[in-house]
Amino acid sequence: MIKLFFRKLTNQFCFVPLRKILDFVYDNPFIQSLFNVFSLYVEDGLVSIHNHDFTKDPKFKSAYQRGIRANTFDSHWKWRVHVGLWAASHAMQLQGDFVECGVNRGFLSSSIMDYLHWNTLHKKFYLFDTFHGLDRALVSKEEKMLGRMLESEKHYSECYAEVKRNFQGYKNVILVRGSVPSTLKKVFIHRVCYLSIDMNNYASEIAAAEFFWPILVHGAIILLDDYAYKGYLPQKKAFDIFAKKRGITILSLPTGQGMIIKS
Ligand SMILES: C[S@@+](CC[C@H](N)C(=O)[O-])C[C@H]1O[C@@H](n2cnc3c(N)ncnc32)[C@H](O)[C@@H]1O
Repeated sequence: MIKLFFRKLTNQFCFVPLRKILDFVYDNPFIQSLFNVFSLYVEDGLVSIHNHDFTKDPKFKSAYQRGIRANTFDSHWKWRVHVGLWAASHAMQLQGDFVECGVNRGFLSSSIMDYLHWNTLHKKFYLFDTFHGLDRALVSKEEKMLGRMLESEKHYSECYAEVKRNFQGYKNVILVRGSVPSTLKKVFIHRVCYLSIDMNNYASEIAAAEFFWPILVHGAIILLDDYAYKGYLPQKKAFDIFAKKRGITILSLPTGQGMIIKS
């Protein structure tokens, strides 16, 4: 309890101002151009001197811009989107459909559809979301202390109508509205090759992973958006237990994501 209290304090008095400073840095074209001169990647809590030429790839740029169009603003997460696009490109070679649990306005899923020329594929993309934020009943006390409900109220407003409009040009996109896990059986999904999980709370995320695990094809990818992300430890702890039960390990990425390939 004391630990949680201090975590909340650090969240409010340390992370919040720090995040504001970082947002200023990410949003400032002059500072970003300075980073470019030194070939530095500085975004989304990640600083890297390593090669990130993917940001200059016209296909990537187009996909990322499509994501921004869906989201209405830039979330400054190019490397995370790069990982998502790689995972989706791998999965499109496999049998089965795409699923995302935690869609919001469709930044990542729109980027993927642009990148893969979705209408040329014979796959379905199932998008599960309440389309109005986290389900309070599923968010643990610890997650509430970490600010999940506050973030939800601030960032995830009602968006179903806009999301429907955003995906209008794409075939075989199925929006499943409501709270996961109760909506998981609303649609029949035979096989899955790509599963993106990004609901910012472990109860619904684990329920989704357990539900889809048996129908993930060999080589299918599970992309966990928050596995190693700063401030989202309850999700990591829960997925480590999920992985241990199945004798697998999760690849922890410097972007804060986690990745599982089902063998
Ligand atoms: C971080 S956002 C997802 C961001 C998204 N992946 C993107 O590309 O922009 C988290 C989303 O999860 C949804 N969500 C959280 N808990 C949920 C639940 N139990 N069932 C359905 N959706 C949920 C929220 O409504 C919110 O849109």
